[in-house]
Amino acid sequence: MISRRALLRLGLGAALLPRGLRAAPRGWPSNPFHLGVAAGYPRPDGAVLWTRLAPSAGADSDVLDSPDLTLRFEVAEDAGFQRIVRQGEATAEAAFAHSVHLELDGLAPRRWYHYRFHSADATSAVGRFRTAPAADDVVADGLRFAVAACQHWETGHYAAYRHMLADELDLVLHLGDYIYENDTPGPAVRRHVGAEPVTLADYRRRYAQYRGDPDLQAAHAACAWAAVWDDHEVQNDYVGDRALDLADPVRFRARRLAAYRAWYEHLPVPAAMRPVGETMRIHTALDFGRLARFVLVDGRQYRDPQPCPPAGRGGSATIRDCASRTDPARSFLGAAQEAWFDAEWRRGDARWNLLGQQSPMAQADSADGSGEAFYSDAWDGYPAARRRLLESVVASGRPNPVVLSGDIHSYWVSDLKTDYVRPAAPTVATEFVTTAISSKPIPEALAAALLANNPHLRFGRAGPRGYLRVECRPERLAVDLRALDDVTRADSACQTLASFAVEDGQAGALRA
Ligand SMILES: [Fe+2]
Repeated sequence: MISRRALLRLGLGAALLPRGLRAAPRGWPSNPFHLGVAAGYPRPDGAVLWTRLAPSAGADSDVLDSPDLTLRFEVAEDAGFQRIVRQGEATAEAAFAHSVHLELDGLAPRRWYHYRFHSADATSAVGRFRTAPAADDVVADGLRFAVAACQHWETGHYAAYRHMLADELDLVLHLGDYIYENDTPGPAVRRHVGAEPVTLADYRRRYAQYRGDPDLQAAHAACAWAAVWDDHEVQNDYVGDRALDLADPVRFRARRLAAYRAWYEHLPVPAAMRPVGETMRIHTALDFGRLARFVLVDGRQYRDPQPCPPAGRGGSATIRDCASRTDPARSFLGAAQEAWFDAEWRRGDARWNLLGQQSPMAQADSADGSGEAFYSDAWDGYPAARRRLLESVVASGRPNPVVLSGDIHSYWVSDLKTDYVRPAAPTVATEFVTTAISSKPIPEALAAALLANNPHLRFGRAGPRGYLRVECRPERLAVDLRALDDVTRADSACQTLASFAVEDGQAGALRA
């Protein structure tokens, strides 16, 4: 632990010292940058740079006992920092666990930059990121990105991130379940530290554990990320302020805010996303020239509860004959975000319009024969909202809509339709669902039943953990389903399980 007295000795007891000294403490007892560095949300002229000054793992306190600290940053064109293009001071805010969310601007489009931080005698690891293409760039050589989700610490290692390093990615898109609040029953590959998080200190400890993983750190240092959260960043299956155990909403909102705050503190997200009151607005859009536009939505915070929950609790279930399921008043994004989406989806002139979101969107009926059975936490619990969203996508006229999803710990490649009652209804968009980085898969028998009962599900596979590797070019969006041999090994090999492509102007994926 770094005591207040030690900080004072180091010149970090800023309250007692002139501001200039805060930027120049003499030495750290251990590396304060051990949680790594990250860049996020790239724009044509910059990105968000992140780090966090933190006590070493195992310290008595999870945060430094210090006011805001000033540190130095450098941005260079080369990894050796011979050609420095920007340098200056950044603030590690005590209110946010001494995290830094530095918004760079003034950089050149579609260029690689290297960055690092200094505090006294400590220097961070070097990270790098590529700025987004200029607004009028057609990006003929394409954009490469990975789609990741669901990284339960206890059920596996992060070999998937190790393999992303070889993919020369512009971006990692994370679709939620970055941490898990719950432990896995039975044997584990590795164990969480501490009990299920409830307080801000608990969630900070959980993030610090996850961010200590060397493969996750390396993936953050290798390129910019963008992220949306799902349920496990707070609690399994929560929606809005409804807890899984139907806890008092006032108490649950306090827990949710602690969890949201810790998410902010540990991800390279813009300062504009910081908590306001009890909420945090994370839905946003990212442009990559005239090639691609990502609209990223929050399907948790503003959602109506799942229909027909099990007796005595909230959350998901496999539901049959649930009348409220089809109630058009129920929303997945909430009314305000639905309106935002409708406007945002119409903006820009990108060839590919990509929706990054949490839950599987295509209808997935798991009942054989004439009955119906739906997983209520996915969009299947909100079919009217799904139809509204897809009808809005169609009405917008924006070309090549592709939905990128996570959550279900299995791979799916699906045709999206506004009408699932008529099998001949047109395919209006294409969905790719990524498997988990490490979380436990759904049963293979369930995946087989879904494939058998739903012809618009073109491909599905439960079992392997991994990620999606996407290459988006003007004429084609190509997706490799990357699969680990053995998630229990940090050095697992990784294969391409299958490849699909969506051709410009034609909804629906074709097996490559
Ligand atoms: Fe998950």
